[in-house]
Amino acid sequence: MSAWPRFKFYGTPHIFFQAARDILGGRIHKGDDVARLEAEIARLTGRRHAIATPQARVGLYLILKALLARSERRKVVLSPYTIYDVVNMVVCAGGVPVFADVDARTGNLDPDQVATLADGDVAAVLVTHLHGIVADLGRLAIICEDADIPLLEDAAQAFGGRWQGRPAGGVGHAAMFSLGRAKNINCFYGGMVVTDDDALADAIRAEMADWPDLATPFLVKRIVHCAVIALAVSRAVFPWATRHIFRALAIRGERKGAALFSTERAPVLRRQLPPEWRRRLTAMQARMALDQLRRAEADQIHRVRLARLYQDGLADLPQVGLPGSLPGAEDIFMPFSIQVADRLACQEHLLNAGLDVVVQHIGNCADYPVFAPFHRDCPQARQVAKSVLLLPTYPRYPEAEARRIVRAIRDFFKAPPES
Ligand SMILES: Cc1ncc(COP(=O)(O)O)c(C=O)c1O
Repeated sequence: MSAWPRFKFYGTPHIFFQAARDILGGRIHKGDDVARLEAEIARLTGRRHAIATPQARVGLYLILKALLARSERRKVVLSPYTIYDVVNMVVCAGGVPVFADVDARTGNLDPDQVATLADGDVAAVLVTHLHGIVADLGRLAIICEDADIPLLEDAAQAFGGRWQGRPAGGVGHAAMFSLGRAKNINCFYGGMVVTDDDALADAIRAEMADWPDLATPFLVKRIVHCAVIALAVSRAVFPWATRHIFRALAIRGERKGAALFSTERAPVLRRQLPPEWRRRLTAMQARMALDQLRRAEADQIHRVRLARLYQDGLADLPQVGLPGSLPGAEDIFMPFSIQVADRLACQEHLLNAGLDVVVQHIGNCADYPVFAPFHRDCPQARQVAKSVLLLPTYPRYPEAEARRIVRAIRDFFKAPPES
């Protein structure tokens, strides 16, 4: 049984050697590579400004803080189907989150819902391109323009996506990308804000002016942590050890085992940006990101090829909801999200067949008790959040494995094998 893991970090093992070399050589903070990375991302997204941040969420905080400072409006309309700290950033920046329900097919903001909420108190609409599925930027842009509301893009999971030929993150008033450990450009921690708004860019740079670099011990801890995970999902260790642990946790651990690894298992409400988040990306991380940008397109071609394979192989199954691509969108499928009613049973079936897939750990923030003051009924988000299963698309995940996943899902639903 071949047993490939559900997930691997982007970047080859070289990233760990690069880290060791720079840390031991005292080069973490040396070089003008952050400015080089900013210039490169600005070029790739067609924006006047790109500003590196320590995390994408901090980038969102900075964007919102600057926008709210020049507006009387306080509401920020956003999807509840996202990580809870996105909601927290709205609160920390002084905004009031207003959840708008999602389109069940894409899992992204439903423009019709946004249209009903886009009133004169809305300071910004934040659209998330979740799972690398590009949201309906065309309709959202019109709604926002009509109501004179800046449209912001959470492109944390969508670097490389496109909307009618324009880069995801290059359409709204401002956007943020994540360069975090699970993203297609991974420098362990990091983000990037992009915009054409000079005043907004100035305000963000001014706010960050006296922030120190991410601290060395903090980075070392993160890199070691990621190295341990990389080892656990390596071909040498995963088939013999890790996969049995995942399987046991998923199946025996009251079926909640996967939640043990989830960063979303214990949502908290933050009213202030944690002081330790006021940091800057280091030159070492910028060098890593620049390196990975060179491979980003090839990785994307592979992801899209796997996505087509899943799409073609599952298209005729009424029990499987496939990610709904919109006309004009070039999605990057990071990973490939499907919706099935009993996702835990489906996952169990796949795990028993030696295939490692994961249930999506993101939930419907609109229902979290910590966000009770902002609760809105979002039935589509609630439903989607219960049913998403993530199929692997990372670089070098073999096509043969993707075909096995298709066969096993078909088998789960007792559908005949693909012809
Ligand atoms: C949709 C979405 N938005 C924002 C973020 C935040 O990114 P970061 O971890 O770089 O702050 C994430 C991270 O997983 C995400 O998935």
